[in-house]
Amino acid sequence: MFVCICHGVTDNTINKCVDAGSTTMRCLSNKLNIGKQCGKCVKTAKKVLDSKLKITNVQC
Ligand code: FES
Repeated sequence: MFVCICHGVTDNTINKCVDAGSTTMRCLSNKLNIGKQCGKCVKTAKKVLDSKLKITNVQC
């Protein structure tokens, strides 16, 4: 599913980025440009991030 239309970022891309060590929205934004254009993706991206962190039990 596309999360950020402006930059073509999917939930899979976010999950891979979290697996690679990006565990904060700031980190995801810096790497994938999430929220840097219209900003409409931020809420959904945060949900995907939180869900992934819960599944992998990663501590921030
Ligand atoms: S949808 Fe992500 S910045 Fe516009």
